[in-house]
Amino acid sequence: MIPQKILIDTDPGIDDAMAVLFACQHSQLDVLGLTSIFGNVTVDVATRNALRLVELAGQDIPVARGADGPLAQPPLPVADFIHGTEGFGHIPPEEPKGRADRRTAAHFICDQINHHPGEIILCPIGPLTNLALALEQDHSIAEKVKNVRVMGTSLRAGGNATAVAEANIWQDPHAAEVVFGAPWDVTLVGLDVTYQAICTAREFAALAEQAPKFGGFLNQAAQIYFDFHEQAKGIKGCYMHDAMAVISIIRPDLFQILEDHVEVILDGEHSGATRLSLDPTHARLRWCADVDAKAVKEIFFTTLQAAG
Ligand code: BDR
Ligand code: CA
Repeated sequence: MIPQKILIDTDPGIDDAMAVLFACQHSQLDVLGLTSIFGNVTVDVATRNALRLVELAGQDIPVARGADGPLAQPPLPVADFIHGTEGFGHIPPEEPKGRADRRTAAHFICDQINHHPGEIILCPIGPLTNLALALEQDHSIAEKVKNVRVMGTSLRAGGNATAVAEANIWQDPHAAEVVFGAPWDVTLVGLDVTYQAICTAREFAALAEQAPKFGGFLNQAAQIYFDFHEQAKGIKGCYMHDAMAVISIIRPDLFQILEDHVEVILDGEHSGATRLSLDPTHARLRWCADVDAKAVKEIFFTTLQAAG
């Protein structure tokens, strides 16, 4: 089976690290590049961390630097209280050997899609600014991409950045509106499903023993993430938001996928919230309403265990 070509747009970030390391190790995925975005950390830290992840994965995957702030609204604070100021919890910052690609993330995304028309799945796991800028640069990419798999939104599960808004949409709702409104096939992997998979601290400790390179890194990074989830949610473990979006690409059969109009609230008290709507002027999107969380977790842990 030919591996599926993907581009991951990311703000690493602990669950981003889970997603990227998983994608780099899975035989059914061919990661053509990472593009960085502000969100969990600044774009400078995100770019450095993305470079670090591909080096840890031991793969020659280009990284292109993305936008440093949202399209229209003032920047919101980065989530250093969740991911640590350096993005990987208490793991000390380390300069990567490699350098970012000379192109911007938007330019890089357009180039890749134009080189591989009909073949690429775009997987944004941070705010959607780079995708909106790529559409602005070359709107024809919307017809040339295979589909877009977004980690973001919450349609029934409440928010995580605010009571009603999911973090990736909250950071740049205007970009979400652009991306959702473009004529490409978008599937949302939001809190509706990512809240259903809780990875325990014990599972990560076991992964660290079985696979010291990747498991050791993720387990060390995730300690701060466990603390956050315990304080915020009373959970002894963490969610695997971004990794679930990547897994949905190779195993869509594990998800119940519905199709509805989705409204993005652009400002005010509910800014960044996303709602199911009956209004046909709002984009009609696929969204994941339910998941076999046990199976998703198993794929995640067994893939990384085997990778070492
Ligand atoms: C999303 O927000 C970020 O903090 C995570 O990395 C994930 O992409 C979850 O709402
Ligand atoms: Ca993320």
